[in-house]
Formats: sequence, structure tokens, C-alpha cells
Amino acid sequence: MTPARESESGLPVEPVYGPEALADWNPAAKLGVPGGYPFTRGVYPTMYTGRPWTMRQYAGFGTAAESNARYRQLIADGTTGLSVAFDLPTQMGHDSDAPLAHGEVGRVGVAVDSLDDMRELFEGIALDRVSTSMTINAPAAPLLLLYELVAEERGVPGTRLDGTVQNDVLKEYIARGTYIFPPEPSLRLTADTFRYCRDRLPRWNPVSVSGYHMAEAGASPVQEVAFTLANAVAYVRTALAAGLTADELGPRLSFFFVARTTFLEEIAKFRAARRIWARIMRDEFGARHPKAWTLRFHTQTAGVQLTAQQPEVNLVRVAVQALAAVLGGTQSLHTNAFDEAIALPTAHAARLALRTQQVLAYETDVTATVDPFAGSYAVESLTDGVEEAALALMERIEELGGAVAALERGFQTGEIERNAYRIARETDSGERVVVGVNRFRLGAADEERSYEPLRVDPAIEARQKARLAALRAARDGGAVAETLTALRHTAADGSANVLYPMKEALRARATVGEVCDALREVWGVHHPAAGF
Ligand code: 3HC
Repeated sequence: MTPARESESGLPVEPVYGPEALADWNPAAKLGVPGGYPFTRGVYPTMYTGRPWTMRQYAGFGTAAESNARYRQLIADGTTGLSVAFDLPTQMGHDSDAPLAHGEVGRVGVAVDSLDDMRELFEGIALDRVSTSMTINAPAAPLLLLYELVAEERGVPGTRLDGTVQNDVLKEYIARGTYIFPPEPSLRLTADTFRYCRDRLPRWNPVSVSGYHMAEAGASPVQEVAFTLANAVAYVRTALAAGLTADELGPRLSFFFVARTTFLEEIAKFRAARRIWARIMRDEFGARHPKAWTLRFHTQTAGVQLTAQQPEVNLVRVAVQALAAVLGGTQSLHTNAFDEAIALPTAHAARLALRTQQVLAYETDVTATVDPFAGSYAVESLTDGVEEAALALMERIEELGGAVAALERGFQTGEIERNAYRIARETDSGERVVVGVNRFRLGAADEERSYEPLRVDPAIEARQKARLAALRAARDGGAVAETLTALRHTAADGSANVLYPMKEALRARATVGEVCDALREVWGVHHPAAGF
């Protein structure tokens, strides 16, 4: 008899499953109905039979004008949601003319320093008719406020704005690094953002609790679910302490996961995550509204599984990963471009990535029925396996004092690094096959590239710095200084929501860097603990 193989999470995968796998399995308790507790089968009763998932391609580079052109192209190509990639200086709360920004301006995303840049970024795009995701964490509040200010200039009230800010600083401490302040003030800022959205932007999702980056750093599917949901528990606790209720925050919580090529376990992972979260929100936090129990999520196909060798093979990987996300019930999806392991995606590659989603949505029959793997001996066994292992890991985090206490001692980071090392060792030994890399390779001559990858024009930095100089010369310096002082006072006294004075500073054309520097002066910056 062929022995069981191990899944990415180390779970047994039997060569054959039969009825005995689900002998004492209770469909009513394990599955429920689509759109009903425990939401294993999906968060909506009709899922894609009524409306496909949102095709939301992560994009942004160079100046606001260049990214605006890419967004318009994506909308013309049929994308149904926007997703802003910011450059590293913006993500770290530095202006394009800060010394630390040199060489990074407009490189991995769009440079947004001010209200002027945000206005240009969305030129010609109707903000009351699009949902916009912004991948921004430590400085999520200023970028969100800039978006609201641009909408207000056009007469669009905050109550009409649809979108999401990632605003998940805990995973930044664990795996990604774009944090600014220490955990305590960061969570205060997170709570202030939650309250601001509850009161002024009721359709906005104030956080996208992300497992993606931890997965890309090496987390297994079980670790991805456990660490993400443990972070989400910390955010709900923070919100409750700030006076919000689980029924207020729950329906606007959102999540973000990866989709790996290990198709079956990924489908099981998404189904298990929904079931775990539904129970936590209903039974641990006492949320009463079913919408507060739902785990709505965005998925991005696994960037770390793209190869620079034979890059067209990535089209196949992305298609398999995207199909896993869809069969797992994602609400929103980004498909990676086949050339992203080499450079920023070209327009051609970005279009192919979107077309991959459109083929799944309009040429296959996966939208004809909800959760087709329900009752599958293999997938339900894997779903139970992921759920059990993730709950055990979440229990371990609770024993360490919760997600924040655990990350402060490097627990999650250490676990992820150990798993990343295992993956690297298996790849180097050839035990883990990567087509085109450690098997089925081509010679150098055959690896010739047939396209010119997109490069960001280094002159962008100079142009962006000139824009900043002009803005600083034209604005009312006194008003900027006054509003930044008010921001510092509110940040220091802790009694009020910092987003209100922050908005006035941004309205006066204070820059993102100046706002973050004001908060750095009051709250300090985070210094990570030593390695694991
Ligand atoms: N039946 C009934 N209603 C339905 C439905 C159905 N079948 N399908 C959709 N709807 C409704 C929803 O209820 C919703 O209406 P509402 O807002 O009034 O509730 C509306 O249609 C939109 O549906 P969703 O909310 O499900 O879909 P969205 O796409 O609008 O939102 C989300 C999805 C996950 C909740 C949201 O948080 C989101 O868009 N997240 C995106 C996050 C993202 O793009 N992140 C990018 C990260 S890239 C990164 O981190 C960096 C890089 O390094 C990876």
C-alpha cells in the first residue's frame, strides 16, 4: 500500500480516501449551508452563481500619473476592483525627498507624498463607483484620509466609499517589516482607524488581516491560518478595549491569504479558516450578527512560487493557484504576472494575469455551483486536519499571552523561519521539485528572454522631489505647522482619535512623511528584538 504523503503543513495525505474517512463526520455541524454558520462552504448563499469574485489586480509604480494610467488600463481590460501598490518610502512613512527614500522612489509601487499625489492617482476614476484596496500598514491612516479628502473634493461623501486598507501592522513585525511605531502606539492608531471608519466610512474595511506575507516568508498553510487568525483576535480585542463592539467591527473585518500550487490543501485551508473564525466571533467574542461571523478574504497567488527560469511556466502555476482560491471561496483575487520574478509586470503580462481570472470566471463551470468540494472525502479530511492543527497552534499562542506577546518574543517569526529553512533544504536537495529550476531545466541559450521587462525610470525620483518642493513652497506653512502641533498633542494625550487632527494637517497639505514624523516624535519607533 502506497504510504501517505505529507502536505505542506505536514498533514497526512492518504493515497486513497473512502467513506470511512467521513464515517463519524457530521455535515450539519461541519458544513452548514452556503452563507450560513459555520460558513465552511462560503460567506454568501449564492457565492459566484450570482456574481464572480472581484478581480483586483495589485498595481502601482512610478509617479501617480503613471499608476493612474495603469489603473485605467486595468479597468478597460475588465478588472472589477483597484488595488494600490505603494513604494517603500510611502509604506515606511517617509517622503520621496527623505534621505532614506533614495533609490526606492516609485520602484515597488507608486510614490504618494501628499494630497496632490492622491488626487492625481485617481484622476478620472469615479470613487463612488469603484472599490479600492490600499496595501498600506503603519501609515494606513494618512493614506486613507488622503483618499477621503480627494473624494470630498469631488462631492463624494465618506459614506459612499468602498475599499480596504491593509492596516495590519502585527504581520509587519512578524514577517514583512514595514512597521514604524512600537506595538502599543501602533495598536492605538489601529483602534483609532477602526473607530474613524465606523463613524465616517461605514462601507470601508479598516483592516485586511494578512497571512500572505507570512506565507511568502515561509509559513505553512496551518501556520498561515493560525498566525493570521491570532492576529485578528488581537485586533478584535484591541477594538473592544477601544469601545467598539464585535458586531460593529466584525462585518468590516477582512482577510488576505496566499494561494499556493498545492491545490487541495489550499482549498481545505480557506474552508477551515472560515469555520474557525465563525466560531471565534460567535462563541468567544459573542458577536450576534451573522455578518460579524464571516471571514471575507482576498487572495493573491504565490509570488514566492514564481520562477525566473522559463517564466511562461508561471502562467500555469498562477492558473492552478487561482483555481484553488476560487474553489476555496475567495471574495477578491489578484493573479500574479508571469514575469514578476524578474521585474515589475509589463502591461502584457498584467493583462494575461487578469485574463487568467476571466477564463476561470467565464469559460469554466466553477461559478455554476457553490463549494463543489463539499463532502469530498479528501478535501473534508484535509479541512478537518488544517482546522485541528491551526487551533492547536492558536492555543499555543494564547499560552504565550496572545499574538502581540508571542511576536515580541519572536515566536511566530521563529516558526516561519524554521519552515522556510525546511522548504529551502528540500528544494536544494531536489526532494521538492520546482519545474525549470531543479528539474526539467533549459540551457542558458534556451533561457533567452523574448520580452523586455518593465524598468522604473530613475528620473522619477527627481521629478517627485521637484513636486514636493513646489508643494512646500505653495502651501500655507503656518497652517501646516499648527495642524501638525495639534496632531502631536492628540497623539500624546491619548484621549482622542488622532485621525481628526491628522486629516486637518493633510488638508493643509502636510505630507505623509511630516505626519509620520510628528507621530515618531511622540511615539518613538520600533526596534525589533534579536533574531530567533
Ligand atoms: N451574494 C450577495 N452579495 C454579494 C455576493 C453574493 N454572492 N458577492 C458579493 N456580494 C456583495 C457583498 O456583500 C459586498 O456588498 P457590501 O459591501 O454591501 O457588503 C459587495 O458585493 C462586494 O463584495 P465583497 O465585499 O465580497 O468583495 P470586495 O472585493 O468588495 O471586498 C474584501 C473583498 C476581501 C472584503 C475586501 O477587504 C478587499 O477587497 N480586500 C482586498 C485586499 C487586497 O487587495 N490586498 C492586496 C494586498 S497586496 C500586498 O499585500 C502586497 C504584496 O506584497 C502582495
